[in-house]
Amino acid sequence: MAYVNDNYLKLKAGYLFPEIGRRVKKFSEEHPEAKIIRLGIGDVTEPLPAAVREAMHKAVDEMGQRDTFRGYGPEQGYDFLREAIAKNDFQSRGANIAADEIFVSDGSKCDTGNILDIFGPNNMIAVTDPVYPVYVDTNVMVGRTGAADDAGRYAGLVYIPVTAENHFVPALPTQKVDLIYLCYPNNPTGTVASKETLTQWVNYAKQNDAIIFYDAAYEAFITDPSVPRSIYEIPGARNCAIEFRSFSKTAGFTGTRCAFTVVPKGLKAKSASGELVELHALWTRRHTTKFNGVPYVIQRGAEAVYSAEGKAQVQELVSFYLENAKILRDELTGLGIKVYGGVNAPYIWLKTPGSATSWEFFDQLLSNAHVVGTPGSGFGASGEGYFRLSAFNSRANVEEAVRRIKTMLK
Ligand code: MLT
Repeated sequence: MAYVNDNYLKLKAGYLFPEIGRRVKKFSEEHPEAKIIRLGIGDVTEPLPAAVREAMHKAVDEMGQRDTFRGYGPEQGYDFLREAIAKNDFQSRGANIAADEIFVSDGSKCDTGNILDIFGPNNMIAVTDPVYPVYVDTNVMVGRTGAADDAGRYAGLVYIPVTAENHFVPALPTQKVDLIYLCYPNNPTGTVASKETLTQWVNYAKQNDAIIFYDAAYEAFITDPSVPRSIYEIPGARNCAIEFRSFSKTAGFTGTRCAFTVVPKGLKAKSASGELVELHALWTRRHTTKFNGVPYVIQRGAEAVYSAEGKAQVQELVSFYLENAKILRDELTGLGIKVYGGVNAPYIWLKTPGSATSWEFFDQLLSNAHVVGTPGSGFGASGEGYFRLSAFNSRANVEEAVRRIKTMLK
């Protein structure tokens, strides 16, 4: 008999979003007449920008001609895309990142999990609480935690609460940690990190030889010019941070899949024998061994995001979702609900009304308003009593959802 990876047996419930999907499916089978509006998983609804589609069409045609057809591409991504990313996303903002430090991939979710491949088993890991569940679950899967307690906290991880009480600013750990996950704009709270906060984290990482995993998948939603879009805007971050970015939420690529990870050269960690090892070399090895690259057609589409038309169209998309977020924020605030986020991020984080737990509010909202959200406790114990609404939907659906929530709560 073969053996399973027992670490998987430590995982608490199902992964949050499939669990929500399961409950919604059951509800809609029992109430086939209900017109459900989904503001749960942050999945985009608006079409790909025209510039992206045109570039993809052109690339498809190239694939139809013998002399322009492409087979395997470079695993790290085509130079045309890596160069466009380095120039537009980093160098233009004063962040010194080169094209060959960018690894194009099929998603930030995959990369934030896969990155653990190149780190040893004895690292002390810190996560904020609440947190994007993938960071925690992937550590459980590789065996870096003990069992979970009743609140869902795994032994061996350092949890840093981010709640209204501390204005959603994570305190620096009081113990030494080696790997730190930070996500800004934050999923799920929709809050951002100021330059000062990020500087404190970079300083902590440098003083403790720690590495920050910085998930900036939602950076395009930052409207406040004083808020950094990349951790590399903070001096010294090249030597202590890996950044994850995505085209999913920015340019509507959740279905087409394209993202990238930045591993700066010179960023090092220690081997068991105490020798300093370049993480860029290890990630290159991992990426080229286990991944065959994002399809050419998709990379051409991603490149078009950086054309003049592409930039304007992406900005329109982002503004559209941010207007949805504003509608949700304003209307819920008008109902007397405490609302956070949604200004520099596509997520609204609210206090559940009355004394409802997160899952109780989920069930009320689904049964009475036929609206799906995400229970805060699904993101961690400190998310209990909170609830997340995503601004990714059509205007008509967001307005209808607001109408129904008002009727339910009045
Ligand atoms: C979310 O809803 O938190 C995200 O859509 C999940 C993801 O991007 O994987």
